[in-house]
Amino acid sequence: MNQTLDLLLKRRTHRSFSAEPISASDKRYIQEATLRAPTAGNMMFYSVIEVTDQDARQQLARLCDNQPMIATAPLVWLFLSDTRKWVNYYHESGTVEKGKDLAVSWRAPGAGDLLLAMSDALIAAQTAVIAAESLGIGSCYIGDILENHEQVSALFKLPQYTAVATLVIFGHPKSHEPLAFPAIRCPIDSIFMENTYTEPHLEDLQVAFGAQEQQLRNQKRLPFENTGTISDYYYFRKHTSGFMEEMNRSSKAIIETWLA
Ligand SMILES: Cc1cc2nc3c(=O)[nH]c(=O)nc-3n(C[C@H](O)[C@H](O)[C@H](O)COP(=O)(O)O)c2cc1C
Repeated sequence: MNQTLDLLLKRRTHRSFSAEPISASDKRYIQEATLRAPTAGNMMFYSVIEVTDQDARQQLARLCDNQPMIATAPLVWLFLSDTRKWVNYYHESGTVEKGKDLAVSWRAPGAGDLLLAMSDALIAAQTAVIAAESLGIGSCYIGDILENHEQVSALFKLPQYTAVATLVIFGHPKSHEPLAFPAIRCPIDSIFMENTYTEPHLEDLQVAFGAQEQQLRNQKRLPFENTGTISDYYYFRKHTSGFMEEMNRSSKAIIETWLA
């Protein structure tokens, strides 16, 4: 064991923060650590918008399926996939023009560029999360940022070849008490495979998610008066929910806008 592993093994999401602001030096450390995240070809296909405008934060909280902590968290960072910077560089520096003389024609960014940029942005986000954690600053990802593409893009003036990757909120945790029900993970063997994909079926999945199911049962959170399964729980609560329908509509629009 070492300090890094200890930090990784103890990290958890925090959603409730004290009013204590993130100091300028802590923010700087998180930024420096984020910049050290690996990126494809070291091209840094990502940007981060710090959302300080209170009205924008309030709108963001509403657009992200009404999560009020977004409006009150001390630090809110929107991680963007960003190929736009290179599109501009290629054009504005004359490289695309030079290409014409060399019979190299302009290629607009495609799906591969989007996925690479998404990878860069998400790796950067997790690096920021871990750097923050090491400073005693908690964080929470907001996956609902993938909803309401049109309004989010308008709010942050996002041009084509930028796309939201994720939103992370940071702050000093209000409480350091251990959780009564910490988030349980699947066993190692249900995640790590060797050489080829091993498709999990019912019995494997019951083993993989058995501990989580038992925890939900103890919390009396399963459907059908707590007689249901964890499969019922996620199917009815998430998979067939209105917010997943909106996330899928909006994500398709994100991809179509990029590829248009
Ligand atoms: C991609 C992603 C999206 C998430 N979106 C949300 C969210 O919108 N709201 C929220 O409260 N937590 C969100 N979370 C936090 C998860 O709920 C949390 O990581 C999970 O329950 C495991 O708990 P732990 O991080 O404390 O181990 C998200 C996490 C990830 C990785």
